[in-house]
Amino acid sequence: MPELSVLSHATVLAAVSPGSAIDATRDAFLHHHRGDWVMPPKVYLESPPHGDFRAMPARGGALALLKWVTSFPGNPADGLPTVSGVVCLSDTRTGVPLALLDAPAVTALRTGAVAAVASRALARRDARTVGIVGCGLNGAWAARCLAAAGYGPGMCCDPRAAAATALAEELGWRTGDRAAALACDIVCTITPGAEIVVSEEDLRSGMHLNMLGADGSGKAEASVAAVLACELFCDEWEQASHGGELTGAVAGGHVTREQVTTLGAVLAAEAAGRSDADAITLFDSTGLAIQDLGIVTAIWDRWQAGQIDAPEVGL
Ligand SMILES: NC(=O)c1ccc[n+]([C@@H]2O[C@H](COP(=O)([O-])OP(=O)(O)OC[C@H]3O[C@@H](n4cnc5c(N)ncnc54)[C@H](O)[C@@H]3O)[C@@H](O)[C@H]2O)c1
Repeated sequence: MPELSVLSHATVLAAVSPGSAIDATRDAFLHHHRGDWVMPPKVYLESPPHGDFRAMPARGGALALLKWVTSFPGNPADGLPTVSGVVCLSDTRTGVPLALLDAPAVTALRTGAVAAVASRALARRDARTVGIVGCGLNGAWAARCLAAAGYGPGMCCDPRAAAATALAEELGWRTGDRAAALACDIVCTITPGAEIVVSEEDLRSGMHLNMLGADGSGKAEASVAAVLACELFCDEWEQASHGGELTGAVAGGHVTREQVTTLGAVLAAEAAGRSDADAITLFDSTGLAIQDLGIVTAIWDRWQAGQIDAPEVGL
């Protein structure tokens, strides 16, 4: 049987720089928009009352993958991570598995990267400052990727003061409260989505919101009124309308497919981004398997070039 490479959390994070993750993520959206990378809808498998499993397959080029990843919100109380899982990478010509990779690390790179890709496509040209609401694993990578894309300085906000301080010190940014973060040109929300962190009265002309935390049913970070006051963009309509930030507005009959533009269409220059400098833009990220494929393709290229050291196991 073939040997599989096993890439740990640290190996994955070291394998792709934030700048490379941004390029890989942008390419992934373009491939998906053109239809040459494909992705069936994410499958949720509930594990009540603890959390859920998610199966996320994608195929593009010579590679296919399945990300088998969790969200178990009560885990931290037991000293376990909320999110865990693996990515299984396979060869599309033979079906043979090639590698296993730590799923949270792949997720963090592609989630951080999409914040930068969406900001470049949708924020005002003169946008600079960044507010991070939620400085956990994925919020930290959003900040790192936005910094790598040339944005900043930023304001880090988190009820876990140590998390906000560590991120701010790493990037030379500052810590502040929610209002200070929301006063920035680009605001990334990446909280567990259990409470509203953006209301209509928080919105300011010209701001851009990357809403990353609501990636499953029952989660929301913005009020429906706030959503309705924005020009709307999403990563993928099916996911965003059923398990994303747009879900409440869609379920209430306030937003239809025609009112929401996909990021891929903007990147491909087939749709407009913000209408003008004063518009308020909202990008709803639910997290796509093609983003994972973009990151893993970049890692696999380096693996094949002999630039990554990782153990191999036989099945
Ligand atoms: N869109 C995507 O592609 C994507 C990818 C990964 C994770 N997620 C989602 O993003 C969310 C965060 O994931 P994570 O892995 O970074 O979790 P995490 O637990 O590492 O971080 C969440 C952070 O949010 C902070 N927080 C909680 N309430 C807050 C509030 N009101 N204001 C500011 N900060 C607050 C927490 O203290 C914590 O530091 C989850 O809902 C997860 O499912 C989305």
